Amino acid sequence: MNSIPILLLLLFSAILSRSSPDRFILHRPIITTTNTSSPQEYFDPSFPSVLLPAGAGDPSCSHAVLSHSFANSFGSPPVSAHLPPCNSSWSTAILDLTISSSGDQYDRIAAIWIDGAEILRTSTAEPTPSGVFWSIRKDITRYAPLLRHPTGALVSVMLENIIDETLTGVYNLNLSIHFYSNDTDDDDLPSDLLSLSPPPLHHSLFKDQPDLILPISNDNSSSGFWFRIENETDLHYKTFVIPSNTYRAILEVFISSHGDDEFWYSNPPNIYIDKNNLTTTRGNGAFRNVFITIDDKFAGSIMPFPVIFTGGINPLFWSPIVAIGAFDLPSYHLDITPFLGVLLDGEPHELGFGVTNATSFWLIDANLHLWLDPISDQVEAELIHHQAPPLVFSADAEFKKLNGTFKLGAETKVHVSGWVNSSHGNFTTDVEQKMKFKSLIFFRNNGDFKEVLMKGKLKTDVKIKDKLNVVLQRKAFKAKYPLYLVTSTLKDENSTSYTMKTNLSHSFNEKNLIVADKVVHSSSVVDTQNGFGWMRVEGHSVLDGMANTEQSYRSQDAGGCRLRKIGAKDGEILYDNSTNSCAFVW
Ligand SMILES: *[C@@H]1O[C@H](CO)[C@@H](O)[C@H](O)[C@H]1NC(C)=O
Ligand SMILES: *[C@@H]1O[C@H](CO)[C@@H](O)[C@H](O)[C@H]1NC(C)=O
Ligand SMILES: *[C@@H]1O[C@H](CO)[C@@H](O)[C@H](O)[C@H]1NC(C)=O
Ligand SMILES: *[C@@H]1O[C@H](CO)[C@@H](O)[C@H](O)[C@H]1NC(C)=O
Ligand SMILES: *[C@@H]1O[C@H](CO)[C@@H](O)[C@H](O)[C@H]1NC(C)=O
Ligand SMILES: *[C@@H]1O[C@H](CO)[C@@H](O)[C@H](O)[C@H]1NC(C)=O
Ligand SMILES: *[C@@H]1O[C@H](CO)[C@@H](O)[C@H](O)[C@H]1NC(C)=O
Ligand SMILES: *[C@@H]1O[C@H](CO)[C@@H](O)[C@H](O)[C@H]1NC(C)=O
Ligand SMILES: *[C@@H]1O[C@H](CO)[C@@H](O)[C@H](O)[C@H]1NC(C)=O
Ligand SMILES: *[C@@H]1O[C@H](CO)[C@@H](O)[C@H](O)[C@H]1NC(C)=O
Ligand SMILES: *[C@@H]1O[C@H](CO)[C@@H](O)[C@H](O)[C@H]1NC(C)=O
Ligand SMILES: *[C@@H]1O[C@H](CO)[C@@H](O)[C@H](O)[C@H]1NC(C)=O
Repeated sequence: MNSIPILLLLLFSAILSRSSPDRFILHRPIITTTNTSSPQEYFDPSFPSVLLPAGAGDPSCSHAVLSHSFANSFGSPPVSAHLPPCNSSWSTAILDLTISSSGDQYDRIAAIWIDGAEILRTSTAEPTPSGVFWSIRKDITRYAPLLRHPTGALVSVMLENIIDETLTGVYNLNLSIHFYSNDTDDDDLPSDLLSLSPPPLHHSLFKDQPDLILPISNDNSSSGFWFRIENETDLHYKTFVIPSNTYRAILEVFISSHGDDEFWYSNPPNIYIDKNNLTTTRGNGAFRNVFITIDDKFAGSIMPFPVIFTGGINPLFWSPIVAIGAFDLPSYHLDITPFLGVLLDGEPHELGFGVTNATSFWLIDANLHLWLDPISDQVEAELIHHQAPPLVFSADAEFKKLNGTFKLGAETKVHVSGWVNSSHGNFTTDVEQKMKFKSLIFFRNNGDFKEVLMKGKLKTDVKIKDKLNVVLQRKAFKAKYPLYLVTSTLKDENSTSYTMKTNLSHSFNEKNLIVADKVVHSSSVVDTQNGFGWMRVEGHSVLDGMANTEQSYRSQDAGGCRLRKIGAKDGEILYDNSTNSCAFVW
């Protein structure tokens, strides 16, 4: 594998405090105040866990799909297993993943695909000698077209890991998929799977579940089904053909950033790196935007939520609470229905992915969710409006040697519109997307004090109109992903180790509004984590430190409001309060 040296270099290159924040590895026994001998459970406190259909009893089918230990899996293709179909009736499918590890190890990226379509992007916790374990449960009902294949499906799991004298943690993984039916009325509810959450909203003009899901992923899966994007000119394309009776198309994109772009929001501009003769390759400034093209036409962009992996910034923050999204990275949705006008000709078309200002590397792939006309086998469509002006970008860098102030701003506004005439009627889908990004980075103390402020806002408005231009349905989506980070580095006297103070606040805020038949349905999530602490570091190893993490999760929808507040200090949970009423104040 020609890419092995790159990763080794990444793992073992001497740390330059100038390129912090960085990824680190915990040496827990030295740090914990209580030396526990039993494995500790790690988790993402965000609700909801999983939703079972009302009255669900025992699963109709439970398939133990695969059990595998990922040791020296670097450079190996994904591990695959056959998932048989569930022949009994079912309405909800739940993915159930359990991972355990002990020893020392970096966080690793992993993904699960069904017939090449991604259903989970996840990253691992860093183990301790006494062991860690965690479970991920995800409702994968929306992938029903893949799961209902009469002969079953191929499930693939990729987790690249390296084992040597110092990196001893093997990741042991068990994957099961459970299928539940909604028409049994069994009183024996499996309480461990129940959550406080209500059933999902079903208010859209069209049915929720797609009829077909096409993987927009790498055909050569020897390095995973994802595409690896190395720089901003490194675009990746997938050729696909869609059925000519498609009346709706939503692209779901999976994204993670690694290597020099793992902490892209803190990267300084290249001029600072060059003028100071720094050796770091973490440059290109602090803005990234994933963009999608269809037949080389700009189709939309995605503002990525910066997921922090468990070795990132200060690994002591992420024990036993992991960073927002670390176990289930968010996927992003783009309504490409207006483009059906160019896609319905039964011919191959090309979907492309790129990352503005990228450095190495990004892992990206997507699923194309398609809704098919049950009556007609030929749907007519036309793209009538396509407005995608180039990104408005501003950058300002002022610095004197290693001290500096860097400002960035970026804005996009996209408007596409197209009609689709199916047996449901002739509807026009109008998609408007506005993105506004701001970043401010301060370097003081000759670069040893860094302050990063990021504010990203995205607004997407999808309107479905009839022939008379009457809006039948409006879906408004708003996302805000603010991040604030301070790192302050002090070299220790003997100069091979240093002490770093870290302070972090980040938030995942999303709001959905659906207006159909003059009825408004809204849902929102506000998930915030604050961490502060210090650590003593040698190379990439954390030798000592203290950390506090606080998280507040609030989600609101038709089923009510749920609130959870949780705090951890030095690897122990201090409090964990949750309630079903947001009026409740602790
Ligand atoms: C925990 O164990 C490690 C090694 O086994 C030891 O170095 C450390 O002092 C112990 N810590 C405490 C608080 O007992
Ligand atoms: C499910 O149905 C398929 C196709 O009819 C059949 O081959 C398979 O044996 C069935 N599986 C079970 C567990 O009954
Ligand atoms: C149960 O699930 C089926 C789909 O499998 C759906 O058609 C039906 O409406 C559901 N019933 C209830 C009561 O939710
Ligand atoms: C996986 O399943 C096997 C067999 O049930 C069990 O022994 C093992 O502990 C499980 N591992 C994890 C990580 O859950
Ligand atoms: C697939 O990609 C790997 C490298 O990731 C390469 O070695 C191999 O030749 C490729 N196979 C094909 C069929 O292109
Ligand atoms: C971008 O990455 C691709 C793929 O690794 C490489 O072929 C190309 O030379 C790179 N371009 C630049 C400008 O570095
Ligand atoms: C960077 O290197 C150049 C050429 O070696 C030298 O002239 C310059 O002074 C150096 N800059 C700094 C900030 O060290
Ligand atoms: C980042 O992207 C913007 C917009 O395309 C471009 O103007 C700018 O030069 C890029 N900066 C770098 C460092 O690639
Ligand atoms: C950088 O800023 C620090 C204070 O934060 C100051 O002591 C130092 O002299 C500054 N360095 C330069 C080159 O201006
Ligand atoms: C569908 O409606 C649009 C206007 O909303 C119209 O321009 C188009 O001709 C209609 N298509 C068909 C096939 O009727
Ligand atoms: C200096 O390094 C040695 C070994 O790396 C370590 O034992 C010692 O505690 C360090 N001293 C300070 C002041 O950090
Ligand atoms: C959690 O709830 C308990 C009482 O149930 C209360 O004493 C405590 O202060 C709460 N903690 C926080 C951080 O809200």
